[in-house]
Amino acid sequence: MKRIAVLTSGGDAAGMNAAVRAVVRTALQYGWEVFGVRHGYAGLIGGDFLRLGPRDVGGIIQHGGTKLGSARCEEFKTIEGRIRALRQLNEREIEALVVIGGDGSQAGSHALSQMGFPVIGIASTIDNDLCGSEITLGVDTALNVALEAIDRLKVTASSHERAFLVEVMGRNCGYLALMTGIAGGAEAIVIPEAETNPEEIATELRSAYERGKAHAIVVVAEGAKYNADGLALYFSEHRERLGFDLRVTKLGHVQRGGTPGLFDRMLGTRLGAAATDYLAKGQHGLLIGLIKGEIAATALAEVATARKPLDLRLLELARVLAE
Ligand code: ADP
Ligand code: F6P
Repeated sequence: MKRIAVLTSGGDAAGMNAAVRAVVRTALQYGWEVFGVRHGYAGLIGGDFLRLGPRDVGGIIQHGGTKLGSARCEEFKTIEGRIRALRQLNEREIEALVVIGGDGSQAGSHALSQMGFPVIGIASTIDNDLCGSEITLGVDTALNVALEAIDRLKVTASSHERAFLVEVMGRNCGYLALMTGIAGGAEAIVIPEAETNPEEIATELRSAYERGKAHAIVVVAEGAKYNADGLALYFSEHRERLGFDLRVTKLGHVQRGGTPGLFDRMLGTRLGAAATDYLAKGQHGLLIGLIKGEIAATALAEVATARKPLDLRLLELARVLAE
């Protein structure tokens, strides 16, 4: 192995820079050349490569987002797009590609790998919806950003006896909402994986008011059937129904822009180094993630077909603790 490339794809996640840095510096230890691909699969198709030396990845571990840039690229989903990408890799005599990204990006890795090109994936998305890693790169930082926001909202909510609907990201996955709801001490949590009766949420909020709570927080996953706007609409004339006055806060991309905490810097570093080590052993077609606290590899073919379960017992725990 002499030349490899690395790219970041899909939604950016805190820790991606740590992973790129680790890939580059580990590969340099093996005596390889490394190319960074700008803007994910779009840059791969368009030939936007830059050679990366050790100084090029200096001073990036502490930054959120991705210095390589990321993108969503419809063309890569087509066979023609992937053939164009392969041409770019072959022209530069690049022998393997590291893809840092979430489930869509790893579906792309798998598709490229099935065309015979050596690819290795690094599990990275704030959504934590990717099989092959119990926790993906960026989740911990995104959760801490959301938690800080909830702590702040509670302060103002208490001052005004208000309820807040706080919408968090996660696409179709309720993991971020479930975790921030529990750790943020929410009165209710709404996620796509569990059916929500808005009337029950209204009853819970009314009961919280009558039990003397000064505020109520409902954490809502953006992918839930009743998202924050939907619930707010349902709770019209809220003061009479809920006891509390109601406000809506959507955290949105704020969660993605966090400065990577220790966990994500370490995870990105370990995943990046491990991915490169696997390539050095001649192994590819794998996703590198964290399973039971250890770095582990799962076949991309398995990752592409499996669905990650959410522990719904935690929803009941959240309900009990909201007392
Ligand atoms: P994430 O990787 O964060 O889940 P996306 O789902 O948007 O983000 O996927 C990122 C990119 O991965 C897409 O824009 C596309 O280029 C590529 N991709 C997604 N699904 C596939 C697929 N089934 N086949 C090939 N490429 C895909
Ligand atoms: O996949 C990460 C994510 O932040 C999702 O939680 C969210 O639904 C989506 O990306 C937003 O995408 P965009 O950045 O393209 O608006």
